[in-house]
Parts: sequence; structure tokens; C-alpha cells
Amino acid sequence: MESLVMSGKKLCVMVLCLYWVHAVTASVTYDHKAIVVNGQRKILFSGSIHYPRSTPQMWPELIQKAKEGGVDVIQTYVFWNGHEPSPGKYYFEDRYDLVKFIKVVQQAGLYVNLRIGPYVCSEWNFGGFPVWLKFVPGIAFRTDNEPFKAAMQKFTEKIVSMMKAENLFETQGGPIILSQIENELGPVEWEIGDPAKAYAKWAAKMAVGLDTGVPWIMCKQEDAPDPVIDTCNGYYCENFTPNKNYKPKMWTENWTGWCTYFGGGVNIRPAEDLAFSVARFIQNGGSFVNYYMYHGGTNFERTSGGPFITTSYDYDAPIDEYGLLNEPKWGHLRDLHKAIKLCEPALISVDPKVTSLGNNLEAHVFKTDSGACAAFLANYDTKSSAKVSFANEQYELPRWSISILPDCKTEVFNTARIGAQSSQKKMTVVRNAFDWESYIEEPASSSEEDSITANALWEQINITRDSTDYLWYMTDVNIDPNEGFIKSGKWPLLTVMSAGHALLVFINGQHSGTSYAGADFPKLTFNQTVNVRAGNNKISLLSIAIGLPHVGIHFETWNVGVLGPVTLEGVNEGTRDLSHQKWSYKVGLKGEDLGLQTVSGSGSVEWAQGSLLAKKQPLTWYKTNFNKPEGNDPLALDMISMGKGQVWINGRSIGRHWPGYTAHGICWDCDYAGSYTDKKCKKNCGEPSQRWYHVPRSWLRLSGNYMVVFEEWGGDPTRISLVKRTTDSVCADIYEDQPTLKNREKLDSGNVIRPKAHLWCPPGQKMSQIKFASYGLPHGSCGNYRQGDCHAHKSYDAPQRNCIGKQSCMVTVASEVFGGDPCPGIAKKLSVEAICR
Ligand code: GAL
Repeated sequence: MESLVMSGKKLCVMVLCLYWVHAVTASVTYDHKAIVVNGQRKILFSGSIHYPRSTPQMWPELIQKAKEGGVDVIQTYVFWNGHEPSPGKYYFEDRYDLVKFIKVVQQAGLYVNLRIGPYVCSEWNFGGFPVWLKFVPGIAFRTDNEPFKAAMQKFTEKIVSMMKAENLFETQGGPIILSQIENELGPVEWEIGDPAKAYAKWAAKMAVGLDTGVPWIMCKQEDAPDPVIDTCNGYYCENFTPNKNYKPKMWTENWTGWCTYFGGGVNIRPAEDLAFSVARFIQNGGSFVNYYMYHGGTNFERTSGGPFITTSYDYDAPIDEYGLLNEPKWGHLRDLHKAIKLCEPALISVDPKVTSLGNNLEAHVFKTDSGACAAFLANYDTKSSAKVSFANEQYELPRWSISILPDCKTEVFNTARIGAQSSQKKMTVVRNAFDWESYIEEPASSSEEDSITANALWEQINITRDSTDYLWYMTDVNIDPNEGFIKSGKWPLLTVMSAGHALLVFINGQHSGTSYAGADFPKLTFNQTVNVRAGNNKISLLSIAIGLPHVGIHFETWNVGVLGPVTLEGVNEGTRDLSHQKWSYKVGLKGEDLGLQTVSGSGSVEWAQGSLLAKKQPLTWYKTNFNKPEGNDPLALDMISMGKGQVWINGRSIGRHWPGYTAHGICWDCDYAGSYTDKKCKKNCGEPSQRWYHVPRSWLRLSGNYMVVFEEWGGDPTRISLVKRTTDSVCADIYEDQPTLKNREKLDSGNVIRPKAHLWCPPGQKMSQIKFASYGLPHGSCGNYRQGDCHAHKSYDAPQRNCIGKQSCMVTVASEVFGGDPCPGIAKKLSVEAICR
């Protein structure tokens, strides 16, 4: 007994001690230079990975890849509408298991930047707001409005208390070092002025009052009140300064690409420019950079914002939608992070001294009293490279690039010289020719029993509450047998004005036209002659929402659907206005009511198959079964033969498909140099904006997977295929004078370190063939290299010897390796492409 009491006491003392040690060391603060974690200033690289945009099964690997890419922090928004689908009813399971996600990050040894918002923008449906919020009486969003503030505070408190209960803040021993309240409120303040400013103050105060123990940030908000740190978002942030000198210079969103809209091209941001933007920010005293996105992922279900945001949220991020490395971006940033971390002791200690090295040329030098020194040499010129002399040494700076010298002498990295490998991905068919069955849904039409009717056109979301994309607007039109057009055959013109986003028109059950808007302008006008006959005609308009807007002011005022006028022109009376006659409404599709996307629901209708299979017909449901393909490669559906609709697998929606919307605009060759914008470096013009749709492997069982496609427009399901995404080949382009991280060793050993091409296939694959190798002056890029005038005849020897049959290999880039110098006096490079099998 005695000893038990004693040991109990000892235990108590130990626990107290631990608590004390913890309380003293666990802290997150900040100063002019940086975020200070446990007394230590840090240069932090952060990457956005949004938990509902992948699956819990994918999280550990995504986070591991981020860690290997030199990321210290994972940044995520918190998605209010996913967590509180109806007022007070919370959901934190599966893809919305926020606590689990944060713990996975913690297990990987990384920090978290939790952007609670709860407004998130993020190309997410309604900017993350639950749609029910729109119907709270008296609400006005993101301004000094009591109902809004009450709801927003309640949700923010809920999240903070969840985090505290799980000890997830850094001061509790958890990984969260920063939290964000609101999101880019600055632009709203500029538009609505004082009430929004008052709301900003209130939001900051409310957040700080929650006492998380870690700093709060507000992005794009110049007036963020103390102690909240204002931060920058954009493609470049080097000129940003926080609103107080005692706040660190932080960049919460460095856009690694851009989102894609149905109808638009796919944006690619060159790795050279992304690295340049980061180096430029750091050389100007920045200490925190977040990549938005580091893994973009997928907008599953109906989570896409909009309107018109695609299901893919790939974003040209360093990890692609499917979780594979987007190379060379991932590797180039990894090397950049290593180079900058070598400079950390100097960077966190002093402010840079900037000197000019010539026109468009600068040196930024961080030199401490204790002898640490780091230098960044910059060439801002977009056209020409430059030779500069710095501290008695010569350096060659490619155009639009920055070289990093962690000791003020040795160049270990240049933002425009990519040392990391690039890779080619491919989509290989693993299953086609599914056994499809079809069911054509009859268009709804007005009837005596209709429950919702009005002598008016109603706004769509008011009725659907966004429970579905679809709302039927139905009315009757009586045509007198004496109407002139019946004799002349000159059919009347139906005009339907809609606030968005797409419309299918049926007259007496016949499809008679389709109309849809575009991302630039969500409103649409249907304008077509229609085949009405003498007597009663049933007009049925299927109005389709394609993601609710995620950005702007006064969310409570936004409209979707047929608001009118609706007119029929070319009748005896001239133009008949149908807008104020009796309209009936039906929410959603019949197939949705019956649950055709589920096995249990599918039995409620007759399906056709074989020669009776419906093709190219609107409003068609398709179903099939398939087995899970072997292996671990990520999967996608190739929907090239379909129009528009939604796909479910085992009852879960993988998102909206719309390959029928071709990317318009101009895609031209992309030069990395010069300021990037989302108009530059597009691809896919003339092709579907999105052809492939991610099928998470974890949603599949071994056999008997039930797949359902709802096709609005009409398509040919027999050409849908299931594909796997793999790395086809890996490439390197290495200059013989390329700076390398290994250059640091040169100092110690006195040896010249030759650059090397490093190639590696993903785990489970090996190099089977050298598709191309040229030491000299080869042309082209990964996937389409061509030999140039200068070419060493033994270019293939070393790559073949070192790489074939290996998962990874190295080839030194020097003349003697390739049997001599093919063109003396000229700077050469090695381009090599190896097939991974
Ligand atoms: C920012 C916003 C993000 C995201 C991004 C564009 O303005 O904060 O949530 O929408 O734009 O991808």
C-alpha cells in the first residue's frame, strides 16, 4: 500500500514535470522574420492538400510524398458544407474525417496550417457555405450581420473545440501551428465598405478569443487587426509586406497552376517560374510559402464550385490528381527547398542587403555577424541570360531565374535549370466493353397532381435547396387550331431566359433543344423554334445547376434557374408571355427519386440491353457491373464518348462528367519566362476540358462493382473504358555546367563535382529501354526529343549500362563518359528518356 502511494506521488511529480517542460517549450509565436516554433524561427514550406478531395486511403501516401518533396506544413481548409449538411447535424466521417487527416499529418512529422474559414472559396460549391445558411431569415453573408456571425462563430467554435479535445494544437503537443479565419475578405471590404470592415474586426476578435495558443492569419486582408497576421495570395508575392513590421512575411497561396472550367483549357504553370517566384519571395525576406495546391485532387459528388468548375481539381500541382508525382515540378521544388534550407541560418537571422549587378540583375545577400552568409543572384530579364560577377566569382544566370548560393560562393541551384527528372504519364485501358443496360427517363410534365405550382417562375435553389442539380419547370400552352403558323408551318420561337446554368427543353415529351452557359457568364438564353401543335402542349424545361458560385459578395442574393421571361413569339397575338401563367415544379430526376444509382433502387425500372440499348438519347441511365482491376495503379473512366451527366460507383458519386464541353480559347507554346497568368500555358484546346474521371481504388471491391451513368444529353456508353494511370517514361535534361546541390561538397573536398542525370521509375517499375539519349545539343522535351547537330555517338552507352533493369540510376554528364567531346567550346547537355515497365 505504502509503495503504491509513493509510486503514485512519484508519477504525479513526473507528470507535472513533463507538463512544465511541455508548457515551456511548446509555443508558436512570430516576429518580423518568421514564425517561431518552440523558440526557433523557421523557414517553412507548406502544401495545400484538401482532405475531401482525396480519400482517407490516399492521405498517408500523399503526405509522405509531400514530406519527401521538402514540405514542412500541410495546409487545408475546413469544409463547412461537408461537415454540417443540415443545421446542427454534423458529419466527420470518411473523406470528411478532419481529425484523422490531421493525425496522419502529425504521424508523418509535419505541421498543419488549418484554414477554418469557414468561408473557403476554393472552387468549392458555394465557397464552402452550407446552402441552408442562405435561408436563415435576415442573413447577409460575410458582413456585419448577426445571423451570419452567429452561425459562423458556432461552426468556428465547434472546429476549434474539436481540435483542442484531440490535443491537436502545437501548444498541446499537436501539429497545428497556424489557423486562418475568413478568406480573402479584403476584396469584399473594398466593395461593401464599412459593414464588411466591422465584420473583419469582429471575426479576428472572435477567433483570437478562442485561445488556440497558435497565431491566426487572415489572407489578402491588409487591415487584419493585431495580433492576426495578414498574408499574401497570388502568383508572385515578393513585394508584399505585412501591415506591421513585427509580423513575418507570409505567402498562403502560391498558385501552382489554376483550376479548370468546363469549356476552358487546362492551365499549366512551368516549374521554372514557380521556383523563381518562391526564390524571389525568400530573397526579399519571406519565410513561409504555401503551394496552393500541392495536391489538388478531385471534386467528387457535387462539391465543385462554379459554376462550371470541372470535377478534376488537378491544378497542375506537384502531386497530380491521382496521387502520382507531377514531374519535373515536384522534384524541382524539392531541390529548391533543399537549397533554401541550406540558407536557413542566414535567412532567419538578418534582412537582406540588395545590390544591383546590372540592368535587371540583383544580388540579395543575407550576412550575419557570426559569419553565416547566403546569396540569391537574380536575373529578371525575360529575354536574355547574363554573366554576372559577384564576390569575385563569375556566374551565368539564365533569363528569368535566380541562383542560390548558401555560402555566398557556391551555386547549388538555379530556378531555371531543372535537375530533377520529368516524366510522361499514360492512360492504359484495363477494361472496356462493359455490359451496359439502359433506362430512358421520361421528361416530367405538368399534371393535375403536381404538388408545387405557382403563377410565377421561381428561383431554382429556393426549391431544390441544392439537393440535386435538376429542377423541372413545367407548363401547358394551348394553341388554337386557327393559329396562322399551323397553316404556314412557320413554327413559333420559344425564348427562355435563365440565370443558369444549363437547360434541356422538351415539348410534348420530345427533346427539342439544349442550351448552356459558360464560366464567363452563367446566364443563358434558349432561343429556338418549337414544334407545338393545335390543342394542349406540354412544355418541360429541365434546368441544371453546375456548381454554385464560390466567390463574390452577397451570396444570399445569387440565383439559378429559369427566372424568365419565357415567351412564345410568332403566334397570332404576336408574342405570348408565359412567365406569369401556371408553372409546376418537380425537384430532381425520377431516377434520383428511385435511387437508380444504388443496387437496391435499380430494380424499380425495366432496363434495356443488347440491341435495345439506348444510345445518343437524352435523359438516359446506364448501369453495369465490373470487377476491380488488379494492381495498385490509380484508375479513371475515359468518358470521351459521353455528353454530360454524373457517374456513381457502388452508389457513390465520382462527380459530374462533361466531356461534351470542348475547351475553347488558344493554347500556344509556353515559355517559362515572364509573369505567369492563367491565360498563359494552356493545354487541351479543341479537346474536352475533362475527358478522364478519377475512380478511387478504395471505392471498389474485388468483384461486382455497380456503376451507373446518368447521361443528360445523349452518349455512347459502349465506348466508355476504365483505364489505369501509370508512368510511361522518365527523362532528364542536364547541362554539363548545371549547378547541383552536391556542389557544396566541392568546397570540402576540393574536387570538381560533375552534374549527374538521376532517373528513377516509381516503385514496382524498372527501366526497360533507353528510348532516347543524346549528349550534345539535342532538341525537344520529354516524350519528343530529337538529336541535334552536335551529338556524341556513344550517347546511349552509359544510360544503357547504368539504367536498364534498374529502378533508379545515375549518369554523369561529362564528355569522357560519352566517348569524347562532340562539339568543343560549346556548352552541352544530356537529354535522356527511359521507359518504365
Ligand atoms: C483564391 C482563394 C482560393 C482559391 C484560389 C483560386 O483567391 O483564396 O480559395 O479559390 O483563389 O484557386
